[in-house]
Amino acid sequence: MTHEIEIRRDGGVQTIRINRPEKKNALTFPMYEAMERALIEGDTDAAVTAHIFLGAPGIFSAGNDIKDFLARSTSGGLPSRTTAFIRRLPVVKKPMIAAVDGPAVGIGTTMLFHCDLVYASPAAVLQTPFLDLGIVPEAASSLLAPQRMGYARAFELLCLGEAFNAERALAAGIVNAIVPAGELEAHARKAARRLAAKPPEALAAARRLMRGDPAAILAQMEQEIALFAERLQSAEAKEAFTAFLEKRAPDFAKLKR
Ligand code: COA
Repeated sequence: MTHEIEIRRDGGVQTIRINRPEKKNALTFPMYEAMERALIEGDTDAAVTAHIFLGAPGIFSAGNDIKDFLARSTSGGLPSRTTAFIRRLPVVKKPMIAAVDGPAVGIGTTMLFHCDLVYASPAAVLQTPFLDLGIVPEAASSLLAPQRMGYARAFELLCLGEAFNAERALAAGIVNAIVPAGELEAHARKAARRLAAKPPEALAAARRLMRGDPAAILAQMEQEIALFAERLQSAEAKEAFTAFLEKRAPDFAKLKR
């Protein structure tokens, strides 16, 4: 079990804290596995009423570990532990709340589309540089982002790789409120407590109605996962991952030479 995901249950709220600050909370396979297990266990524990995702001070998550991406680019697609976490997101039964301080990159942003409430500090920055890495959007973001923020803004986020700061994310409707960093966790907990006071069956039914058919979301995920696996093995992706780890700009032009 990795210590880089900290699970705590407290007063009916399960917090899932991403805690690998030295690597900007980049997510590794064991970290996905720990988060998936926590979601399953929290969902089945009657005492848990909500899940809260937290990062470390100043960093929510730098997304998938790029070293792991590079390793997978020669040995197959996304590992089952990563895809299991992604596939779990649309079928989680209890409300999910995220508190985002600092960058939320790649899956750090796309997992937010599955959360019911998202609070951001003024330093939050949502960004998905999938195309710059030679890969494609995941976690059903290619479906959910256009639905939530409209195609025009979703294209800027997912394809231009534009960074959405807290204010822009709030204006785009993908963040509920901007809260000072020091109050973020307490704010999320307060929301979780308000939800816990609702009649649970009515809340579950309302959530099911609002979130739509998970089968449609899962079907989009399958298309993304297949394309993602293909793209991971592309020369473009390998060059982008290597360039990041070597701290240099990628040179895609050399691939044509
Ligand atoms: N995978 C692996 N390592 C990562 C990482 C990632 N996604 N993001 C950051 N790191 C590592 C860096 O390599 C660096 O390691 P080092 O200290 O051994 O050199 C360390 O974390 C600190 O990162 P650094 O880039 O110096 O921090 P920063 O504060 O200047 O920038 C980010 C923070 C998040 C903006 C930047 O790290 C970043 O853009 N990361 C990549 C995000 C990304 O493309 N993710 C994939 C999305 S699909």
